[in-house]
Amino acid sequence: MQRLTNKRIILGITGGIAAYKSAELVRLYKKAGADVRVVMTAAAMEFITPLTLQALSGNMVHSSLLDPEAEAGMGHIELARWADILVVAPATADFIARLHSGMANDLLTTLCLATNAPIYVAPAMNQAMWRAPQTQHNVAQLTQQIPKTTFWGPDAGEQACGDIGPGRMMEAQAIANLTANTFSKKLLCGKTVHITAGPTREALDPVRYISNHSSGKMGYAIASAAQEAGAKVKLISGPVNLPCPDKVSRVMVESAEQMLEAVLSELDQCDIFIGCAAVADFKPSSIATNKIKKGADHTMSLLLVKNPDIIARVAQQPNKPFTVGFAAETQNLLEHARAKLSSKNLDLIAANDVGNSEIGFNSDANALTLISAHQQLDLAQTSKTRLAQQLIEHIAHLMP
Ligand code: PMT
Repeated sequence: MQRLTNKRIILGITGGIAAYKSAELVRLYKKAGADVRVVMTAAAMEFITPLTLQALSGNMVHSSLLDPEAEAGMGHIELARWADILVVAPATADFIARLHSGMANDLLTTLCLATNAPIYVAPAMNQAMWRAPQTQHNVAQLTQQIPKTTFWGPDAGEQACGDIGPGRMMEAQAIANLTANTFSKKLLCGKTVHITAGPTREALDPVRYISNHSSGKMGYAIASAAQEAGAKVKLISGPVNLPCPDKVSRVMVESAEQMLEAVLSELDQCDIFIGCAAVADFKPSSIATNKIKKGADHTMSLLLVKNPDIIARVAQQPNKPFTVGFAAETQNLLEHARAKLSSKNLDLIAANDVGNSEIGFNSDANALTLISAHQQLDLAQTSKTRLAQQLIEHIAHLMP
């Protein structure tokens, strides 16, 4: 949401019951540091008062195209040029039809025609109106033919009229997040990033395995952050309970050997490799064909053999990608991290203190120290989502 600081947003509100959510949206935009100008249609003012939106936005609400006083302040062309982005939430079927036909019969539709800023439309209407062929036609044509127009939603669910189906306006927080994403700096545009995440499982027999507590949260957050930064992202994931991040291609694996195979395939297309997976260093020397039975002995010995070092193999390639490792340590964090940076031939390593239960394995927060040949940067404790964005920004700055 920091990406909204000083951004100039026109929020268009049309006449639907979901207009009450727009007040919350203005509050979220303002909290994120944006400058918000609200433009209301006449019907919108039947649902929510301009005074409420004026108080929340800190700016006079615009509603009339033919108001000489308003035009003497910031006229409609000036307002259209002022905006970095125009969001219409809620957008009624009537507004969408007028937008599609290029009408300019009120201030909001006029601004949509006059602005060069991207327009985001969050529809809100009865499910039958949304499903109506005319509405669907208008939405499809706008999406295909007017590149500056994008639709957000609608959500499906229970509606104010009692119907159930698609047509609910997205929640204000979701719209605010999407708005922030439109301003994300595309630091990795044109780059391909491969990321390993989660644990590996090393089978002992058909029902047992050796593994660790990695949840995949850190690696998946990095995959999302890289995707948001404009990269094409491949996520090679051990077994975790997380959905695949949006617009990321995912390969699921179990063992370190399978992870290595997935990593090496298509490595020639990879610009940046990030090894966040907690790969088992050892695996059983053999996998029993049948379930190992309890014997009379009180002890049992396992013979383990070393797994391949995946990230070291990546960094050995002749045209190696920019290679970023993690060092999960419980003692002498920076010393061990530096040793891994050098022994594995990495470009950057993220030292992660996994002895602290509030960060590291399976937590929502983390803290890292990023170490490269000549630089060291502490990233203070924060959510894995934010930390992943900071890591991606740092990588983008270090990239040759
Ligand atoms: O998944 P979460 O619950 O969110 O937790 C995140 C995390 C703690 C797992 C993550 O932040 C982290 O620290 N990942 C690295 C875990 C690890 O295995 O560290 P390591 O110090 O043992 O390994 C060093 C580097 O070599 C790592 O980049 C690792 O992916 C890589 N490696 C290790 C062994 C091996 N056989 N192959 C490897 O590629």
